[in-house]
Amino acid sequence: MALRKIAQIGHPVLRTPSREVSLEELRSDAFQRLLDDLVDTMRDANGAGIAAPQVYEPVRACVIEVKSNPRYPYKPDVPLTILVNPVLELRGEERFDNYEGCLSVPGFRGVVSRATEVRLTALDRDGNAIDRVVRGLTAGTFQHEIDHLDGVLYVDRVTDPRTFTTWTEFERHHQAAFVERAKALVARFGS
Ligand code: NI
Repeated sequence: MALRKIAQIGHPVLRTPSREVSLEELRSDAFQRLLDDLVDTMRDANGAGIAAPQVYEPVRACVIEVKSNPRYPYKPDVPLTILVNPVLELRGEERFDNYEGCLSVPGFRGVVSRATEVRLTALDRDGNAIDRVVRGLTAGTFQHEIDHLDGVLYVDRVTDPRTFTTWTEFERHHQAAFVERAKALVARFGS
């Protein structure tokens, strides 16, 4: 197990669009090690996901997993998903207000408008094609992680800066109402 240092907001690597990964690079030991390290680093930090530029590697790869997450107790479980060269297509007009946090923006959360349904195409760690539709709260998690690969942080997408809150004040003042909305989404989509 190897943990990588997590880049913090202000570091230019988080603002650099990441480059695509070739099949040859994907199959290299160094790249497979990076994927393992992303998983270890995400789990150690209790993240719901982490993207390669967050560990100072500007390549198009990210990992997502939710398993009774203490940072996001209301999030439905998502099995470990490793995405290389992912592309998202927003489907439909429906959006929902998602309270997001980020391991690269410690201590804060804010409300971001996310599509409730996206089509995801990507490669898995073996180079096999992934093509699926992701819905509900989980669609927000995928949009957040893939934004990182374009140098976009959730704070860029917070339309009302007055929604910024520390984690403690989120729990005190905003969590209950948000969890109700989140539960309604999860009830509709099962994710
Ligand atoms: Ni993030």
